[in-house]
Amino acid sequence: MADPRETVLAGLTTSSKYRHLAPAALERTTDWALARHRKPGDALKAAKRKLHQGFGAYLDPGALEAVHRLLDTADDTSNLGDLAARILALHRSSAERMPLMDALYTALWAEIGAPERLLDVAAGLNPFALHAMHLPPGCTYTALEIDSRLVEAANRFLVLANQPGKAIWTDVISDPGNHDADVALVLKTLPCLEQEQSGAALDLLKALSDVPNIVVSYPVRSLGGREKGMRETYLDQITTLSAQISRTLTVLPVEGELVTVLRHAAL
Ligand SMILES: C[S@@+](CC[C@H](N)C(=O)[O-])C[C@H]1O[C@@H](n2cnc3c(N)ncnc32)[C@H](O)[C@@H]1O
Repeated sequence: MADPRETVLAGLTTSSKYRHLAPAALERTTDWALARHRKPGDALKAAKRKLHQGFGAYLDPGALEAVHRLLDTADDTSNLGDLAARILALHRSSAERMPLMDALYTALWAEIGAPERLLDVAAGLNPFALHAMHLPPGCTYTALEIDSRLVEAANRFLVLANQPGKAIWTDVISDPGNHDADVALVLKTLPCLEQEQSGAALDLLKALSDVPNIVVSYPVRSLGGREKGMRETYLDQITTLSAQISRTLTVLPVEGELVTVLRHAAL
């Protein structure tokens, strides 16, 4: 008889919707589903449902194809700022940040100093915001992302932009890694991780204990555009999380997104 774990995993790795997700994420979702359903068919359905809740709404395949098509048109003479803006506009979450990107990074570096080694956790399309980050020369940029199509696109862009660093295909819940960074961006990501696995937000922040500055942001409007007390809810969450990892919390004066910096409390 076929091994149920192999059966469920094969169902996910051959699915056109989920085969781009890091293998460790498919394995952990398989184990989660099999802990709840004995029959492999039921477990596969539950695993797909779980992945759909976490990833179904983020970026549609059409937008990803458009990202790669735009990158195909780029060459040495391309205006990369313009190309990046067209790519960021493809998704509502990054499009919504575009008007505030410059103010966000200006306020951030004014607060903590410009980074030398920047880690972008669950980066999504954020590598295409590089031009707004105004990183100092020689600063390395490392992006972690679960979707191989986004990783591939980010790496293509980093080469075009001549930016030292790389994007890495990984599931930060199973393996947050040990990346040498002075600043970690965790932008609009903790609610997604928590949805994938309860407790994952705290685990990730603990795993970043060697990083002096952790920048955590949250959306203040739902994807439908409604404000539903999200700022207050997320401010409560990050206040609790920062206390749990003994870090101080600073809220940056940025409109349109709740942006916070978590630093080690002075001894
Ligand atoms: C809401 S988006 C935010 C993207 C980016 N940080 C930003 O603010 O523009 C969440 C991103 O996290 C990625 N992601 C979700 N779970 C992940 C995981 N377990 N490991 C790595 N990346 C993950 C998703 O694929 C998506 O690109």
